[in-house]
Amino acid sequence: MRNWRLRIAGCGLRIGLCLIGAILLVSSRDGWALESDLVTKGRYVFALSGGCGCHTAEGGPTNAGGRPLQTPFGTFYGTNITPDPNHGIGKWTDKELIDSLRLGIRRDGSVMSPVMPYPAFSGMSDEDVVALVAYLRTLPAIARENQPHKLSIPFSNIGNRLWRWLFFTPMTAPAQAPTAGIERGRYISEHVAHCQECHTPRTLWGTLDRSRDLAGNPSGIDGEVTPNITPDPETGVGKWSDDEMVSLLKSGFLPNMDNVQGLMALVIEGVPEGGYKDMTDADAQAIEQYLKNIPPIVQKIETKNK
Ligand code: HEC
Repeated sequence: MRNWRLRIAGCGLRIGLCLIGAILLVSSRDGWALESDLVTKGRYVFALSGGCGCHTAEGGPTNAGGRPLQTPFGTFYGTNITPDPNHGIGKWTDKELIDSLRLGIRRDGSVMSPVMPYPAFSGMSDEDVVALVAYLRTLPAIARENQPHKLSIPFSNIGNRLWRWLFFTPMTAPAQAPTAGIERGRYISEHVAHCQECHTPRTLWGTLDRSRDLAGNPSGIDGEVTPNITPDPETGVGKWSDDEMVSLLKSGFLPNMDNVQGLMALVIEGVPEGGYKDMTDADAQAIEQYLKNIPPIVQKIETKNK
C-alpha cells in the first residue's frame, strides 16, 4: 500500500518537473530570448543615435539628464530619460515614450521644444523605435531631478506648440528600416543619427533650411562651427576618400589625423553604452555612400580643419 502511494507521488513529481522544464524551455525560446534580441537591437539603435548624448551630463550617469545645450533661444538641459518613476520615464507607457520620440509630445500632453530632434525621429521605423524604448528601460534608474531650461523667450510652452503647429508634419514611418545601400544611409543619417540637426543651417524660425541641406552652420548648437558635409570638393567633403569618411564616423579621426571636437566627438563617442563609433562598417559605408550622392552645395564655413 505504502509502496503504491510512493510510486504515484514519484510519478507526480516527475510529471511536475517535466512540466516546469517544458515551461522554461518554451519561455526561453519564445519569450526571454525574443526579449533580449529586442534589447540588443535597441542598444544598437541607441548607439546609432549617438547614445542620446544630450541626455547625459559630462561624466554623469547615462541618460540622467543635465547636459546644457546652448541655442539662440536659450540654454536647454537634457532631461532625465532613465526608468526612474519620479524624475525619468519610469511611469511612461511604451506608447507615451514613442509619441515623445516621434511626435514631440510629453506624457502630460505638453509639447517639446524642437531642440529635441523629434522631427528627425518621426521617420524612425516602428521596429527601431520599439527596440529603442525596450532598451531605454533596461538602463539603471537614477533619481536625478530635471534642471529647468534657461530660455531667452517667454511662454515657451505656447511657443513650442505654435512652432509644432506651423512647421511640423509627422512622417509616415516605415514598419522596418531599409537594410542596405544608400537608402539605409539616408535613413540612419536622417532619422536615427540626425546629422542634419547640427549640419544643416537654420532659418530665423529655428527650422532647418533644407535648401542648404548639410551645408554647415557657422554658429550651430553650443555656438559650434559645424562643417559643410556635402560633396562639394572645395567647401565640403568632396575630396575625402570613402575610407576617410568611414574612419571619421567610427573613430573621430579626420583625414589630417586630428580628432573632431565638441558635439561631433560627443555623438561619435556617445556614452559608455554606445555611440556612432559602435556602428557596423556596413552602416558607416551606407552613410558615406548617401553623403556622396546628395547635391553638393557651395558654402564656405571657416573651420580650423580647412
Ligand atoms: C550634435 C551635433 C552633430 C551631429 C548630430 C552630427 N555632427 Fe558632424 N560635426 C558636428 C560638429 C560641431 C563638427 C565640427 C567638429 C570640429 O570642429 O572638430 C562636426 C564635424 C563633422 C565632420 C568633419 C567635417 C570637416 O570638414 O572637418 C563630418 C564629416 C561630420 N561631422 C559628419 C557627420 C555625419 C555624417 C553625421 C550623422 C551621421 C553627423 N556629423 C552628426 C556636429 C554634429
